[in-house]
Amino acid sequence: MAKAPAPKTSKTIKRVPTGIPGFDGLVEGGFVQNSSVLISGGTGTGKTIFCLQYLINGIEKYGEPGVFLSFEEDIEGLHRDALRFGWDLKKYVKSGKLGIAYEEPYNLDKFGEVLEREIERVGAKRLVIDSTTVFGLCLDSAHEVRMKLFDLTRLLRKLNVTTLMTAEILEESKGLSRFGVEEFVVDGVVLFNVTSMGSEMSRTSQIRKMRSTKMDGGIYSMEIKKNGLIWQAE
Ligand SMILES: Nc1ncnc2c1ncn2[C@@H]1O[C@H](COP(=O)(O)OP(=O)(O)OP(=O)(O)O)[C@@H](O)[C@H]1O
Ligand SMILES: [Mg+2]
Repeated sequence: MAKAPAPKTSKTIKRVPTGIPGFDGLVEGGFVQNSSVLISGGTGTGKTIFCLQYLINGIEKYGEPGVFLSFEEDIEGLHRDALRFGWDLKKYVKSGKLGIAYEEPYNLDKFGEVLEREIERVGAKRLVIDSTTVFGLCLDSAHEVRMKLFDLTRLLRKLNVTTLMTAEILEESKGLSRFGVEEFVVDGVVLFNVTSMGSEMSRTSQIRKMRSTKMDGGIYSMEIKKNGLIWQAE
């Protein structure tokens, strides 16, 4: 009789570290390789900064090229914002380690092709899609959003990239995403939040879902410093 395969322990799962100080310890060292994770939160909570830092660290610390796919036209603004943290995106684009693509949100059929080409061109291992909210606004129903995202995550698995997608949620929302369906098709959800008390503002994060990962679901403080995001050590 054939022996049952040994159970997979977390040691057999390859992880993709973000390299962001204090964060990786919350997810057993990194995101599961080839998974898709939703970075969700209200406006100005640090989603784009987190994603940029993930890509820059990928190149600088782990030798992994990346692609940033934006649905927002203001790519110059992105370069400007990144430079404030010392991340010279143009330098990485020039050296062929970073691809930055802008895609018309209304052209979702072409979107897969652009993505595939860009990932192949730079040999990307990491991908950011910022944001899925614009993507969703172009579709008529939550059902369509779910189907499109499902197709997308299937394509991404085939392309062997570890993906962060952002989702903007409304201030008063208690949900994990804008359309209430995105969280079901991804492997993980990280929720960012900002709360204010008088003149004090505090930023927090919570891992809400992370397949194949032990997580405590706690709420952890984070800060935006001059070199990017940082999670406070215990
Ligand atoms: N150098 C800095 N130091 C501290 N905080 C900063 C700095 N630069 C930007 N911020 C803060 O970062 C936040 C914006 O971060 P980011 O663009 O990542 O947010 P976001 O979640 O992507 O927002 P949106 O949903 O609007 O795209 C702002 O609240 C701003 O106050
Ligand atoms: Mg953003």
